Amino acid sequence: MPKKDRQQLKVLFAASECAPFVKVGGLGDVIGSLPQALREQGVDARVVIPFYEVIDRMKFSFLPVMEFEVEFEGKYHPVKAHLSYHPDYPDFKIFLLENKDFLVKGGDIAFAGTQEEIRTYAFFSQAVVALVSHLAHWSLVTKKGESWVPDLIHCHDWHTGIIPQLIKTSYGLDPSFARIKVVFTVHNLSYQGISEPGLADALNDALKESPLVKWDLQDNNVDLLLQGILGSDMLTTVSPTYAKEILTPEFGEGLQEILKAREGRLKGILNGIDYQNWNPAKDERLYQNYQFESNGEVDNIQSVLRVRSENKKELQKRLGLPIDEKAFLLGFVSRLDGKQKGLDLLESLIQTFPPAAGETNVQLVILGTGEKEWEERLQRAGENKERVSVNIEFDSELARRMFSSCDVILMPSRFEPCGLPQMIGMRYGALPLVHAVGGLKDSVEHERDGFVFSTYTPEVFISAVKFAYQVFQNSSKWQKMMAAAMKKDFSWDRSAKEYVKAYEEVIG
Ligand code: GLC
Repeated sequence: MPKKDRQQLKVLFAASECAPFVKVGGLGDVIGSLPQALREQGVDARVVIPFYEVIDRMKFSFLPVMEFEVEFEGKYHPVKAHLSYHPDYPDFKIFLLENKDFLVKGGDIAFAGTQEEIRTYAFFSQAVVALVSHLAHWSLVTKKGESWVPDLIHCHDWHTGIIPQLIKTSYGLDPSFARIKVVFTVHNLSYQGISEPGLADALNDALKESPLVKWDLQDNNVDLLLQGILGSDMLTTVSPTYAKEILTPEFGEGLQEILKAREGRLKGILNGIDYQNWNPAKDERLYQNYQFESNGEVDNIQSVLRVRSENKKELQKRLGLPIDEKAFLLGFVSRLDGKQKGLDLLESLIQTFPPAAGETNVQLVILGTGEKEWEERLQRAGENKERVSVNIEFDSELARRMFSSCDVILMPSRFEPCGLPQMIGMRYGALPLVHAVGGLKDSVEHERDGFVFSTYTPEVFISAVKFAYQVFQNSSKWQKMMAAAMKKDFSWDRSAKEYVKAYEEVIG
């Protein structure tokens, strides 16, 4: 359907984070960019997140737009809704919900699934439903406010998993809910948000009567992710391969049979990255910028390489690594999650330094925070290794400098729903070296624009690194691969079109 002939779809994204306001992982990047890509497809997409304390009140502007009460644990709690706009896209609206008892903490470290977090997001979900109802009647309350009923709520991960049920069980409270559909996206099946038994009581009364909630409560808890999977009109995940993997016991986290039952309503749509934000030609935090140009026959990869070598030397200087533009520089940027990110493989790689079988000019930079055990283990492994730099911090500037100077970005993840660093790496000319799972498998082609290994063992991973090192010695092959990677298109456009199709299918 041509854009202008389509009646404008209204979609509300509900999530725990949205960059640049707040970001703990890749989810924040998606929520801060996919709605804009949808807007460019003619969809009126808006976002709602909690107004955590960590959100910088000075950096962005916020306009308080409405106040309402939310019933939770048998009491009424005040919620103030603020409106802001994405700093890079002035018409992209973000609602932030403020409440001093529930929506203060969060947004600074990765979620651990504690009961406190579960209460936070159960409350947030209830508040989102209240917001939807107030937006529908906004024009009655204030002359300035417009009335806005989303056709569809797009919920993300366990934090918002109960929203489909809340919408369905609240028809009686607000008739405008009856036609609202819900799409639920699983960004990571390994975080489910499993509550203690009292959660259903804390939410609204109708919810207790929901057959899905009753069924879930049989084992004495509510699994918020499972509620999202079961209660939504359509289910998506962030890559086609992960959509297949989660139907198997190896990746299904115990939900594979339930997911199989919903297979007909499950789609895998590969994420994109925001090409305006991730642009080596304009990124203000790089030592030096560069722009890849190609007309199909000739390209400027040599000049890209020259600038990247200057960046490499600056990075080595900053991190105290030996300054050597010819060094083969490996980078790893990630949340330190031991179950997912392949940290045991990375630790084995560090242990081979120095020097591994004659590769005397290999260097490794690690950047990330996360599980304490892994922060310490990686730090310990890197101690006294002249060519390894372990940085336990969340530093987006350093991350960007790594993408613009490392030769390779390592992603040995055991599983990876989509993964964004491999795409950012390719855009910046750093070739990804990845385990063949999920979105990594869908985005990297072995020896064309990166390196892919299939067996999850330290030996296979280390030999993949050695293989990449050999290719690096062959500069014409390396340059060809860099050009292929930098030419690849991971902009959101393609994914946004697939989401529009999915929304239209749901709305019928
Ligand atoms: C989660 C997944 C990651 C994905 C991101 C955004 O962080 O672990 O693979 O890229 O969500 O969808």
